[in-house]
Amino acid sequence: MNTPSIERTPPGKVYLVGGGPGDPELLTLKAARLLAAADVVVYDNLVSAAVLAHARSDAERIYVGKKAGNHALPQLDINKLLVTLALQGKQVVRLKGGDPYIFGRGGEEAETLQRAGIAFEVVPGVTSAAGAAAYAGIPLTHREHAQSCFFVTGHLQDETCNLDWPTLARPGQTLVIYMGLTSLPDISRQLIAHGMSPATPAACVRRATLPDQQTLTGTIADLPQKVVSAGFKPPALLIIGDVVSLHERLDWFSGSVQA
Ligand SMILES: C[S@@+](CC[C@H](N)C(=O)[O-])C[C@H]1O[C@@H](n2cnc3c(N)ncnc32)[C@H](O)[C@@H]1O
Repeated sequence: MNTPSIERTPPGKVYLVGGGPGDPELLTLKAARLLAAADVVVYDNLVSAAVLAHARSDAERIYVGKKAGNHALPQLDINKLLVTLALQGKQVVRLKGGDPYIFGRGGEEAETLQRAGIAFEVVPGVTSAAGAAAYAGIPLTHREHAQSCFFVTGHLQDETCNLDWPTLARPGQTLVIYMGLTSLPDISRQLIAHGMSPATPAACVRRATLPDQQTLTGTIADLPQKVVSAGFKPPALLIIGDVVSLHERLDWFSGSVQA
């Protein structure tokens, strides 16, 4: 006697895709191809509309955007959503701003997929540090100014900014601080207290690579006040180090702001 076979939908696949810092032309060819083919796009608030426009017109678009302290969908629910969509047999693009593995929680999502036995791939994107540096004319390394570069977050889980200040305050390097706008007064105080010269050049680059990009420069001592005077709001990156002094000469995209 033949036992009736139970039809099962083969699971789909999840692509964790970096959408770059904003300018749609910075999207990789692979990201654009996967977006054009996906059944569902799960995206967050740093993904620009022009990047999302690469998705198939009939693709389902699910916004799970997060702003600091105001989660549209908690991370655990996002993780579950990706698994559920894949189990429904869908080809899913999880589209993130910048690069998925740089302050993007892509690692947590990949771990969830791996544990659930869901096939996944990761597509790197241009991280906002690289985008901001290029478009603001601030090379992150330069033989005469910086031999190393740190990417750090200014927003920690418990709302404090508890970084390795003695290491970060050393000369001859560049610091790029993601999500550091709110903590900038604290960051400035700590770096100076741990030996950084108050005259160290510092910049804040807002909406990097987008047509309304704004760049504000100063020193690590006066940048906090300038940022307040200019009314800067996220998304913005802080770049600290001697390389910032090159901005004036290498700025080709413009958007410099006086404060
Ligand atoms: C949650 S992190 C995501 C980073 C992203 N995965 C990346 O690789 O750029 C969000 C922070 O990235 C920075 N950021 C992202 N896009 C930006 C942009 N276009 N201009 C300036 N900063 C940006 C800001 O510091 C923002 O608060």
